[in-house]
Amino acid sequence: MECSWKTVLLLVCASLGIQYTAIRTLRDSLSGPCHSGVYQCQSRQPKDSRWRALCDGNTLPMEASSSAPRRHILVFATTRSGSSFTGQFFNQHPGIFYVFEPLYHIQQAFTNSTNRLRRVLDRRALLGAYRDLLLNLYTCDVRFLENYIRPEPQEHVTGSFFRRSSSRALCSPPVCPEAWGEASATVGQPDETWCPKKCGPLNLTLASMACLSRSHVAIKTVRVPAVGDLRTLTEDPRLDLRIVHLVRDPRAILASRMTAFSEQFRAWKIWNATARQPRYVDLSQITSTCRDMAESAEMGLQNPAWLRGRYLLVRYEDLALNPEEKAREIYRFVGLEMDKNVQLWIAQNTKNSAPSAPEWNYKYSTTRDSKATTESWRLRLSFDIVRTLQTLCNDTLSLLGYRLVHSVTDLRNISNSLVETRSFQTVL
Ligand SMILES: *[C@@H]1O[C@H](CO)[C@@H](O)[C@H](O)[C@H]1NC(C)=O
Ligand SMILES: *[C@@H]1O[C@H](CO)[C@@H](O)[C@H](O)[C@H]1NC(C)=O
Ligand SMILES: *[C@@H]1O[C@H](CO)[C@@H](O)[C@H](O)[C@H]1NC(C)=O
Ligand SMILES: *[C@@H]1O[C@H](CO)[C@@H](O)[C@H](O)[C@H]1NC(C)=O
Ligand SMILES: *[C@@H]1O[C@H](CO)[C@@H](O)[C@H](O)[C@H]1NC(C)=O
Repeated sequence: MECSWKTVLLLVCASLGIQYTAIRTLRDSLSGPCHSGVYQCQSRQPKDSRWRALCDGNTLPMEASSSAPRRHILVFATTRSGSSFTGQFFNQHPGIFYVFEPLYHIQQAFTNSTNRLRRVLDRRALLGAYRDLLLNLYTCDVRFLENYIRPEPQEHVTGSFFRRSSSRALCSPPVCPEAWGEASATVGQPDETWCPKKCGPLNLTLASMACLSRSHVAIKTVRVPAVGDLRTLTEDPRLDLRIVHLVRDPRAILASRMTAFSEQFRAWKIWNATARQPRYVDLSQITSTCRDMAESAEMGLQNPAWLRGRYLLVRYEDLALNPEEKAREIYRFVGLEMDKNVQLWIAQNTKNSAPSAPEWNYKYSTTRDSKATTESWRLRLSFDIVRTLQTLCNDTLSLLGYRLVHSVTDLRNISNSLVETRSFQTVL
């Protein structure tokens, strides 16, 4: 009985009355004895029409995996490694509250905007703030973000939530009642402009309530450097954290970054075009990407006690070649049922082909050969760059099972895959 919807509604009412302490109250209830039961609404009759709507619709958010204890999932990745695509596996699950890169707001707040290079002022403090935000989001205090969003939200409402449209929960009822009946709100991805236009500014109190109404929380980030930086979260008794570590061939990552951030990678593009390395080219970013990726993978595979059962290494290339099977493996790891919406989304977005990784951009992919797509970087990088990268990242490449090339001919011969067959089993 203590887990009934009345309790939830009471708590919700309390949250409306005592604005600030409210979410905390709700959050505390998460660690209480009624965990999953609180969030179920089938066969109950909540009086609030918004919540009833949530329970009556045939896209029942709680229909799947409502019996599993609350999970806290992190898609832990690096820029241009395919994390947006992977995040969709969770975003499309109606029982999961998914947030796309919330740490963006903290990084913005911590960088010195008068400095052209936008340097982070204090790395240790930044990582601490990242963990605080993750913990608060996992426990559904979405309003914790107000400390970092600029301009500062007024009355817990903001028009500046980073990539809100990438989170289905933030673009569907009850956060956005206007989304009822929209095809884009039920299957697939609303485009970037649709959601803010249709739904108006984001009410963060409602976002917190939406989070509580779903059974699990998933967050995608590319801003945490190494898995070791997450240790206090894996050890936190309030959380049941599952880290999906997404890696990708660093040569592919570089090629993708060069395309996506051409301004920042101008020196690299000159290098690529002229086969001569400009002296001012910045090798440090890709070097630290490689180092962080290897360090985290090594740590994860060593399976230390604080990470046991909480770490899964996934290569983007494997996922792109076999998305459905990999999605199943990922869901098995997080301990949840894969919802039919997830399957549907995968079927619609990967038909006969892999998505072209991060180049994938809320559009249905064309029917290209998947092998060619995941290794298309081999046609877009000069051998000179590839050779340099192989020197900088040789340990990472060998650890993750990416073959080196020793000539231009090797590099361009796509029929010869550079992705070795590997399975990364952690010691049990
Ligand atoms: C920000 O960067 C500028 C230019 O590098 C520097 O003069 C200024 O002191 C920095 N501000 C802080 C708070 O570190
Ligand atoms: C945000 O939503 C809450 C909960 O429904 C509501 O009480 C509050 O008035 C809303 N805020 C604004 C500014 O509309
Ligand atoms: C590198 O140069 C090749 C050949 O000039 C070009 O086709 C390719 O698009 C370039 N790659 C990038 C990432 O700019
Ligand atoms: C990577 O290169 C370094 C320095 O050349 C070498 O010592 C190391 O053995 C190489 N590692 C692998 C895995 O090839
Ligand atoms: C590409 O690699 C395949 C497999 O190793 C080989 O049979 C083929 O001859 C190569 N093609 C070229 C153009 O070198």
